[in-house]
Amino acid sequence: MKIDYTSYKDVKLKGKKVLIRVDINSNIDTDKMEIRDSPRIRALAPQLNEHFKKCAVIILAHQSRPGHDDFTDMSLHAKEIEKETGRPVKFVDDIFGEKAVKAIKELKPGEILVLDNVRKFEGEMKNYTDFKDAENTKLVQTLYPLVDYVIVDAFGAAHRAHASIVGWPKMLAGPITDEELGALRKVIDVPDRPMAMLIGGAKAIDKFKAMEFNFEDEKLDYALCSGLTAVLIFEALGKNMGEPNHKIIAKDLEENHNLIKKTYEKFKEKILLPKDLVIDDNGNRKIITVDEAGTYNVTTGDIGPETVREFKEVIMKCKTIIANGPPGIFEKEVFRKSTNELIDAMVEATKKNKALTIIGGGEMGAAASMAGKADDVSFISTAGGAMLEILSGHDLPMIKALREKKL
Ligand code: 3PG
Ligand code: MG
Repeated sequence: MKIDYTSYKDVKLKGKKVLIRVDINSNIDTDKMEIRDSPRIRALAPQLNEHFKKCAVIILAHQSRPGHDDFTDMSLHAKEIEKETGRPVKFVDDIFGEKAVKAIKELKPGEILVLDNVRKFEGEMKNYTDFKDAENTKLVQTLYPLVDYVIVDAFGAAHRAHASIVGWPKMLAGPITDEELGALRKVIDVPDRPMAMLIGGAKAIDKFKAMEFNFEDEKLDYALCSGLTAVLIFEALGKNMGEPNHKIIAKDLEENHNLIKKTYEKFKEKILLPKDLVIDDNGNRKIITVDEAGTYNVTTGDIGPETVREFKEVIMKCKTIIANGPPGIFEKEVFRKSTNELIDAMVEATKKNKALTIIGGGEMGAAASMAGKADDVSFISTAGGAMLEILSGHDLPMIKALREKKL
């Protein structure tokens, strides 16, 4: 992956109107309609104050995916940015229609405007292999002429060739990208071995594929699989994980059954799967075996103590540990224990073994800060899936676009 971009630092920003495409996709409590904790917004806010205070700043971002519960507008994010920056932040429930255009035109230096969820635009989420097609979208055609610069800094979504990420005729890289690539460089170039990836949470097939290409690249020594990625592998191997688990990964499984089986067979010596799991028994943790998952027929929300013990053993013998996606549904108290224990193991590896420990992804980052451990690992990345891809040297669409369309 060739990193070659023009940075926001290379231009005079004072008094300019800048559109920044960021990734502030956050963990939302949909009952209360509030953001639980957003490491991504916390990372962005000081940058806005430090580098863009004298600009008129337009923020463009996404939240979740259409059809999901947490596919909200961006007003919650605007409020959170307001809190974190200590400055008033405007929100307009529009992306590039009349309302948005008017708000952008009226925006003055020193002001911040958040546009609505860019994924409400149906042309956003196509996989634009030809960046020209993204350039021709109404989104880009409308917004680009309204601003002096477009800064693409959605590091956590750098692996998506979406219109707002690769479509701008000219683009600058932003501070999050600068900082993240600086911190991840060591792992991208020559990671200290052994290296382990701790994989959990959702987006099972993305993470499975990231694991696969890191194994193929001979970068990776161990994959510690939990969450839905483990469910996906178990089911591909013919285990019945129960309908509630099955239905979440059914589509991924159907489309990738052979790939999962083949990859697992090839690298099974290096892939650790859970031995035991946890279900919610009226607010108590009930430990079950993997074979029992089908019989109970409820969502398994965490890994059990035997699995934690095995994962921890591997973590303690590794020099580089990358975690993406919590092993349990840590938002629920009953499923939080193993996530915290593995974060503790990473902290211990950092201190005792001088291991390089990186936590990635909005969720796992949130879990680490909820546990008060965010400062005790080597680095918290705002990227999850994108980070896993970057590590194997993949030329990510955002990095490619920043190179090909640099100012
Ligand atoms: C993330 O949270 O991983 C990024 O914002 C990308 O989201 P996506 O996987 O829905 O594209
Ligand atoms: Mg996420």
